[in-house]
Amino acid sequence: MENFKKSTIYQIYPKSFCDSNGDGIGDIPGIISKLDYIKSLGVDYIWSTPFFTSPLKDNGYDVADYREINPIFGTMGDVEELIAEAGKRGIGLMLDMVFNHTSTQHKWFQKALGGDREYLDYYIFRDGAEGAPPTNWQSKFGGSAWEYVPGLGKWYLHLFDRTQADLNWENPKVREELRDVLRFWKNKGVKGFRFDVVNLISKPGLFEDDMQGDGRRFYTDGPRVHEFLKELVRDSGIAPMVTVGEMSSTSLENCVRYSNPAERELSMCFHFHHLKVDYRDGEKWELMPPDYGKLKRHFEEWQTGMQQQGGWSALFWCNHDQPRAVSRFGDDKAYWKESAKMLATSIHMMRGTPYIYQGEELGMANPAYKEISDYRDVESINYYGIMQKAGKTQEEALETLRQRSRDNGRTPMQWDAGEYAGFSASRPWLAIPENHAYINAEAEEQDADSVLAYYRKLVALRKEYPVIQEGAIEFLYREVPGLLAYQRLLGEERLLALNNLTGEPVRLPEPIGCRGFQRLIGNYGEPGELIGELRAYESIVLWKP
Ligand code: GLC
Ligand code: CA
Repeated sequence: MENFKKSTIYQIYPKSFCDSNGDGIGDIPGIISKLDYIKSLGVDYIWSTPFFTSPLKDNGYDVADYREINPIFGTMGDVEELIAEAGKRGIGLMLDMVFNHTSTQHKWFQKALGGDREYLDYYIFRDGAEGAPPTNWQSKFGGSAWEYVPGLGKWYLHLFDRTQADLNWENPKVREELRDVLRFWKNKGVKGFRFDVVNLISKPGLFEDDMQGDGRRFYTDGPRVHEFLKELVRDSGIAPMVTVGEMSSTSLENCVRYSNPAERELSMCFHFHHLKVDYRDGEKWELMPPDYGKLKRHFEEWQTGMQQQGGWSALFWCNHDQPRAVSRFGDDKAYWKESAKMLATSIHMMRGTPYIYQGEELGMANPAYKEISDYRDVESINYYGIMQKAGKTQEEALETLRQRSRDNGRTPMQWDAGEYAGFSASRPWLAIPENHAYINAEAEEQDADSVLAYYRKLVALRKEYPVIQEGAIEFLYREVPGLLAYQRLLGEERLLALNNLTGEPVRLPEPIGCRGFQRLIGNYGEPGELIGELRAYESIVLWKP
């Protein structure tokens, strides 16, 4: 069995993890200083978001040099030490490869701007029609996806910020440059890669207006994406390292192809449909309480579909682009601990590879900022304006950010209850939530019942029980709203996971007899002989040899 099926992966956002030199910004020596903590979680890999040279318009997802380290985060020596020190602890480092686009500060783009024909063909430059952009496509961060360069009389495509120019994957030289970046990091001892928005790399042959949407249907899971991925993995020599692709607005059918081992593309996929069940009409900036029925159906469809067709999923609630799950799907006040643990259980017992995003293991919650000046994220700041232009009041726009901003997931790691949460000796780049008084690593280390202790146990269970790693999954009680229940089956072994997604008790159609079962984990103490009802956000995992 592939190693990644037994693994749990810890995601680090370096800017917010630990600041070693007191400038308010997390850095690589800070990560090194916390490796024993990371090891104590039992995880096998660290995925770090980008720390390469970058103007940080999108916090490092705008790379200006794939082989150099941004001095704000440290030096190449620090990265080598991180790889070595993590390795000593049995932890592999996975790097984040942003290959759909580069920063406009990248030397390739700078040469293109200078009119160098060779480098113009590294990007997607097109003519517009009478002062208008080549197509009506929208950037994912708001506004047109095209930017005009007067000196060239042409427009370049940027699916994200205007400082993130899309690379032209049709050009074989571009593809070879990117493979060479992978070889470089492989030689440094990196153990795996996460590929940023990698299902957007293949653009259509013809660029045309989208009369139904923002253009994504033309380039999402685009015409040559599978071919490009196969070539990238094969010709860079990175197989059999662990790889995960971030798939934006993708389909089940494509995720099967990206991750089925027979296709020789990637180990697994991040897909996001479960994180859209609180988008009204599919719109991120329109608030709606989570639709738990939809959430349940999503898991049923994707878990079962990926299993039947041999795909493999990354399991996650949180990352640096998402609000904190406990605030979003749980209750970060009255049932903070219970709901944080339930959310963890519900995905850690599924089929796939779980990811823990820094601070999630502490139950970190959204910061509930009051002012627009508290926000740093380019997307949030853009949409604050766009929402008001579209008719929202200032307070409505702020409330939307409070729930939806990517900064919710980017607040500094809460190490202790001190003024700057033990993250830094001075004021951090993004404000620390008040709840760090009780949500912090130091306090949770002292508490056997903490969210932290619970996560450690979940990670250990996956290592210990083959049924969690490779058992078949089957959903149960599909008709009971709010109850996410499934079993995992391997030979005679059977594991039963019951999760109440809601703050109201849920009744089972018939009580479950627990005789013969052993309780592996749960957030409310030992169940009785019969389980007839689950309490608010209750989780119970039962196992029978
Ligand atoms: C991915 C990253 C996100 C970034 C975007 C553009 O979605 O996770 O942080 O802004 O790609 O690179
Ligand atoms: Ca620092």
